[in-house]
Amino acid sequence: MANLKIYTFPNPILRKKAESVKVFDRSIADIANSMLEAMYNSDGIGLAAIQAGILKRIIVIDLNSGIEDSSKREPHIFVNPIILKESGNTVSEEGCLSVIDFRGEIQRSEKITLEYQDVNGKNEKIEAEGMMSICLQHEIDHLNGILFIDHLPFLKQKMVKKRLSKLSKEFA
Ligand code: NI
Repeated sequence: MANLKIYTFPNPILRKKAESVKVFDRSIADIANSMLEAMYNSDGIGLAAIQAGILKRIIVIDLNSGIEDSSKREPHIFVNPIILKESGNTVSEEGCLSVIDFRGEIQRSEKITLEYQDVNGKNEKIEAEGMMSICLQHEIDHLNGILFIDHLPFLKQKMVKKRLSKLSKEFA
């Protein structure tokens, strides 16, 4: 697969809802690998397929993405992820490859239980907490057309979106 382009706010593609993967052919692994490559190239720790304009429920995460030594990489691929259970609250600073030039404090569930499939369609279930839990919730939001800035308090959200829309026109 060719190099993926990552779309940024306010591109309307980011507001679409991704569709479940039903056929697990070779293309799913190809998409996931291209996503990992795009994520590493952009120094991100997570990416949803929809950010590259691919409307499939696929996300990739590597919390070690920023580490210089690439042998320490820990790529994770989640297809059709569903949160079964969530508990607790945690607040942390988030950023997004589709939201340039803004980071903000967002509240998420502390722990989640997640059901998903691997690239071959095998069912998996994990419990996640800490950064992995936060990152999964952020990426699953993307699959539903939701960006982390949508979780900001109303007035702050309005201000940030206005500034980012203006910025995107300047760079267009
Ligand atoms: Ni994001």
